[in-house]
Amino acid sequence: MPYIPEDILQTIRETADIRQIVQEFVPLKKRGKNWVGLCPFHSDKDPSFTVNEEKQIFYCFGCGEGGNVFKFLMKMQGLSFTEAVTQIAQRYGITIPKRPISQKEKQQKEIGQQLVEINTAASEYYADLLRSSRSAQAARDYLEGRGLDQDTIDGFNLGWAEDEWDGLIRYLEEKGYSLELAEKAGLIIKRTNTSGWYDRFRGRIIFPIKDHRGDIVAFGGRTIGLPGQEEQPKYINSPESPIYHKGKVLFGLFQNKSSIRKAGQGFLVEGYMDVVSLWQFGVREAVATLGTALTEDHARRMKGVTKDWILLFDADEAGLKAASRALPICYKLGIRPKVLVLPEGEDPDSFVRKQGQQALYERLENALSGIDFLIETGKKHFGTDTEGKLKTIESALEAIATIKDPVRKSLLVGHIAQKLGVREESLWQNLQEKSRRPIALRTVSKDKEQKKTGNDSSTLIRIGNKADEKILGFLLSYPQYIERFIEYTPELWLEDNVLSELWSAIMHLHSMTGNVNLSELYKRLEHNPALRSVAMRLTSAFPPCTDLESMLRDLEIYCLNRKKKALRLQILQQLREQGEDEDSNELLRQLQSLR
Ligand code: CTP
Ligand code: MN
Repeated sequence: MPYIPEDILQTIRETADIRQIVQEFVPLKKRGKNWVGLCPFHSDKDPSFTVNEEKQIFYCFGCGEGGNVFKFLMKMQGLSFTEAVTQIAQRYGITIPKRPISQKEKQQKEIGQQLVEINTAASEYYADLLRSSRSAQAARDYLEGRGLDQDTIDGFNLGWAEDEWDGLIRYLEEKGYSLELAEKAGLIIKRTNTSGWYDRFRGRIIFPIKDHRGDIVAFGGRTIGLPGQEEQPKYINSPESPIYHKGKVLFGLFQNKSSIRKAGQGFLVEGYMDVVSLWQFGVREAVATLGTALTEDHARRMKGVTKDWILLFDADEAGLKAASRALPICYKLGIRPKVLVLPEGEDPDSFVRKQGQQALYERLENALSGIDFLIETGKKHFGTDTEGKLKTIESALEAIATIKDPVRKSLLVGHIAQKLGVREESLWQNLQEKSRRPIALRTVSKDKEQKKTGNDSSTLIRIGNKADEKILGFLLSYPQYIERFIEYTPELWLEDNVLSELWSAIMHLHSMTGNVNLSELYKRLEHNPALRSVAMRLTSAFPPCTDLESMLRDLEIYCLNRKKKALRLQILQQLREQGEDEDSNELLRQLQSLR
């Protein structure tokens, strides 16, 4: 991954013209200041995709996707940031200076390339055998029996490993490959008692695993029930290697990413055959984690293609569990997950083979949103009595606790509250407790320290604001103390506009109703979602008070100091403006009292 120095990045950013680049993918028409077209990221009927040349950004009013030219290419072509930058640099003839890479990096890169190369050779060997070896007849019959035709077999480069110990070894030797390298790639295994190696995959259908760039990084092999294979695991896979980390690769992603992008949604399934079989039956939108639970790295890759994913797992206990475990990860990474539950005993492969593509898409209309899935399974699993309901709430909140987008989070919290008949406010409190970590009021004391040492004022303001955030976070978490803080006149010293707007909203509510009820506050902030989400963020970011009294004391001292300082400034200002006159003495006396 090349490192791109900041100044070069800047040049690339300034040189690239977003309209020009977007237009290579999306026809645009001028409308007012903007250019508009059909959004490539969702199925768009009216042009809701806009490009603003002045700001060099795109934004879709339909799906909310937006960003700069790098983001556009990343989304459009499934590139990483560096890949997108490099591509644009090439287009505009900007050279990215090569960072002197270390000897070690160079070696690693070379080994990586060699491993991909040997895997590619092995894959060709396996594919050839499946096509034409006489002994592969059973394998061809097997695949035919599972409904796969030649196009599908070619589309996934499926192959066949002969049922012998050294078929691949002989082939690789003939081609001049080093067997140490083959071992490193996981293709062959060192013998323990004698010298030499033996083939890892024997008597198996071979599924080459490509990474998102299309490099073959590993293989899976499935038995076809040959005599003697009964005791063996159904699938075996390449071990981890310098180019293969199973927690990062999704099978089928390379083959299917463009149709997933076009469809605006993808299916996450469990197995090789699910991906391949769905493809055969016209659903070219599936990717699989291979025998591992979904990881954040997987989810990040998925989100790079589309935000809308349908978890389509086997209709058994394990599949349902896997879905429940995958949902929090999806939510955390900003994916909008749905869960499609199949009829009992089916997996995606068997379902689509028996009932076809149409039936799958029809069923999809009844897919549950991730959160509804958790609520439904929770009800079934834990029951609907109070205890059961609590557990269901817990699992639903757990899943959405790490959502970053405050608006989404708040919608989901509202949904859970409504579905389970509990007050939204109490759910927020629960979430708040989840995110609380027992840390002291560090920002405030740091603020004090810095004042003593007289650090530069810009850090003071920044840290001061952080402390102010904390004050409001505290008051929203413990609204019963709001009244007590009114006398510290935060309106005089809250520097941040958003915070002072929030404080006035609180004051307003207080003056109208005589107290501050959180759900009432959030309701009133509904017309101002930005402010509302700040309030929610502050509340859920507030750490737990292990010692409420000392927390209060700290905060009050802090607020009192802020108040005094604000008043001093006011008085000084007044003194400066009015000059020396008879009132000055009174002001100076006041000033003295504020020390
Ligand atoms: N798996 C594995 N090792 C096994 C069994 C399963 O690595 N012994 C992984 C494979 O990646 C497999 C996935 O887990 O694709 C799902 O397993 P399973 O549902 O049992 O397999 P299917 O995909 O249904 O395979 P098939 O239809 O060929 O039986
Ligand atoms: Mn299956």
